Amino acid sequence: MLDLLIRNATLPDGREGIDIAVRDGRIAEIGRGVDAPARETLTLDGWLVTPPFVDPHFHLDSTLSAGRPRANRSGTLLEGIEIWGDLAPTLTAEDVKHRARELCHWSIARGCLAIRSHVDVTDDSLMAVDALLELRRELAPWIDLQLVAFPQSGFYRHRSAPDNVVRALDRGVDVVGGIPHFERTTEDGAASVKALCEIAAERGLLVDLHCDETDDPNSRHVETLARETERLGLQGRVVGSHLSSMHSMDNYYVSKLLPLLQEAALTAIANPLINIALQGRCDTYPKRRGMTRVKEMIAAGIPVALGHDCVMDPWYGLGSHDMLEVAHMAAHVGHMTGVDEMQALFAGVTTTAATALHLEGYGLEPGCHADLVVLQARDPVEAIRLRATRLHVLRRGAVIARTAPEEVSLDLGDTRRKVDFLGGRATTGG
Ligand code: FE2
Repeated sequence: MLDLLIRNATLPDGREGIDIAVRDGRIAEIGRGVDAPARETLTLDGWLVTPPFVDPHFHLDSTLSAGRPRANRSGTLLEGIEIWGDLAPTLTAEDVKHRARELCHWSIARGCLAIRSHVDVTDDSLMAVDALLELRRELAPWIDLQLVAFPQSGFYRHRSAPDNVVRALDRGVDVVGGIPHFERTTEDGAASVKALCEIAAERGLLVDLHCDETDDPNSRHVETLARETERLGLQGRVVGSHLSSMHSMDNYYVSKLLPLLQEAALTAIANPLINIALQGRCDTYPKRRGMTRVKEMIAAGIPVALGHDCVMDPWYGLGSHDMLEVAHMAAHVGHMTGVDEMQALFAGVTTTAATALHLEGYGLEPGCHADLVVLQARDPVEAIRLRATRLHVLRRGAVIARTAPEEVSLDLGDTRRKVDFLGGRATTGG
């Protein structure tokens, strides 16, 4: 007896009329014409079923704090850093947990069931680390949280950061973080990359550095990150987040850099919402976009995932943690509106992101966790176009979030109709 049978789904690879059998929280069978008794059946109208969205780059400690202690009037990175500097010392564990929990609830509602969150380890008490470790345990039945020890004020620039990174990892933080472009000198930045990768290699951990999040084309720490990845045998375990400087680099240098990243099996994470908002602020016109070279990296065989980075915090006052909004922005900022390109962006907020996080049991194969999202769309491009409604969100085969289908009724004199925004499929009626 199955626990659940989902009927008539469309999959992201285009297969239609697919049934998904679920037993003991995992996918038992997936294909056409699955016929077995089930306790529950969910019959779809050919809607797109995808493994859940994954946010590979976020900051849970600062989320939903916008306006505290004051609003970011200029909207700039620098004013955001100033505000965070004033706010962080006043935070309590309860406050951090409350805001992060709320964000996770938004995330689940949007069908995102895994978040990698950087957590600032500048504060010697590691209060936010402990708060988010507790929240990770509390929410484990519903969402996977992965934490990155992030020395936000610099690994060498802030006196206690080297100790605090190690202490955070000792307490159970999963991933080694860093911010080489924020160190005092380029040399310190490169040394921090080396030291952080060595810590990860010794402990068998993953690495995810905020790397070159600047408009300065001479910020080239990703080169060192690729080198250290090779030297320490960390291929496939290292992420360079942001990589914004690549946008401004000389093309000849990029033609040398991309093969280095590919050789090191590095994954890039772009954060299109935040980088289009924060980069290029010192430019007049034309203004640079500031997002890393997503299209070119994908063409070079480098995995690229997409992160939300911030929702309503000192750096970014917008967002509702919708990973389709992230992919939608990436399509625009990266000139990636070709059909295959948009498919790749959909993968950037699902499968590629899951691979970067080394998530276990993720996917649509038999044996994978029955973690699924039913979208009010027929394919990934339509999902991005509409930022489609998440009709059902399933975790281990149980529906944990529902949203009513979007339906708009027009009343224009003699013309009354429903508009559902599914191109060519709008219905008419009296
Ligand atoms: Fe970030």
